[in-house]
Amino acid sequence: MKRILFLILIVSLFGTMAFANGGSDTAAADNTIVVGVSFSDYSTDRWPREAALLTDLGQKAGVQVITQVANQDPKLQNDQIENMILQGADVLIIIAQDGDAAASAVDAAAAEGIPTIAYDRLIKSSNLSAYLSFDNVEVGRAQGRGVTSIVDSGNFVMLGGSPTDNNATLFRQGQMEVVQPLVDSGKVTIVADQWVENWDPANALKNMENILTAQSNNVDAVVASNDGTALGALQAMKAQGLAGKVPISGQDATLAGCKSIVEGELTMTVFKDVRKLSPMAMDMAIALAKGETVPGLTDFTLAQLTLDDTLKGSVPCLFLDVVQVDADNLYDEVILTGFQPYDEVYRDIPEGDRPPRP
Ligand code: BGC
Repeated sequence: MKRILFLILIVSLFGTMAFANGGSDTAAADNTIVVGVSFSDYSTDRWPREAALLTDLGQKAGVQVITQVANQDPKLQNDQIENMILQGADVLIIIAQDGDAAASAVDAAAAEGIPTIAYDRLIKSSNLSAYLSFDNVEVGRAQGRGVTSIVDSGNFVMLGGSPTDNNATLFRQGQMEVVQPLVDSGKVTIVADQWVENWDPANALKNMENILTAQSNNVDAVVASNDGTALGALQAMKAQGLAGKVPISGQDATLAGCKSIVEGELTMTVFKDVRKLSPMAMDMAIALAKGETVPGLTDFTLAQLTLDDTLKGSVPCLFLDVVQVDADNLYDEVILTGFQPYDEVYRDIPEGDRPPRP
């Protein structure tokens, strides 16, 4: 509490100083723009990488970047955001743990005139200045296609992402666009339809163990929603001799995911080039902090973005393309583009069986 009072004092002091210097709305003493970046967690590989990217981009652009990570706790995330506002953040980039809970943080920031960008994951508030992400429905379609191009009949397991992440809903929407016609024609039976709490690989492992037990291992394909959860499920499948036999999808082109693909266990992943998303978000954050309008965004209704017709309002959005990756194009898409390192991905592949070193 003492710290908060101290911060309030500092913030109001700086506010007065900024005002005395000509009415700038930034709380930083020297008028440097402060960008607050709030992460849900660093458990999935991409987030620490993007934290480093965003910090580096901010430094190069001459702004101050404050990052916080909420360890998958939505309340802690909102507290941290409130704190960043007290520390003088001029603009916020949020990777929400819970798209519903974070809406109150966005609304509170908006009430103070602080713009917010929902980064990768939607926050269900029409007070967002922008939502920047990838084509998440296409991610799901790619996962569906990746699995059904190997097996298009029999017993399917649907393993969704975190139920508090709106992306998980969009991935599922895309997956079902591919899988539902096969269900309708009677070729596929969905024997388990589950969501993995917190996207945690350990939860995916448990889910898959239980599913395999319940189905007496009679599972023909697994539509999993990212590499982390797929690799968790693969551990359970491996224990039953099913790894490499039953197709399973992933997402993110993580190092471990790519390694598993070249070793013949994970069937596919979806490459989302976060090296493109981060600069867009930082440029946009800086423009918003300066009060500039940001071009290139298209309005989508919250109802469209969430499949929930009860939600009102719309959000300016931008979605980047994604690439479906399997053993055939991994080298071109992921290695040659420098997204994952050759030596690590092929570490356990005998020298003679590897593609040429780039
Ligand atoms: C992201 C995925 C990521 C998952 C778990 C999703 O919102 O879009 O890239 O694998 O969260 O962190």
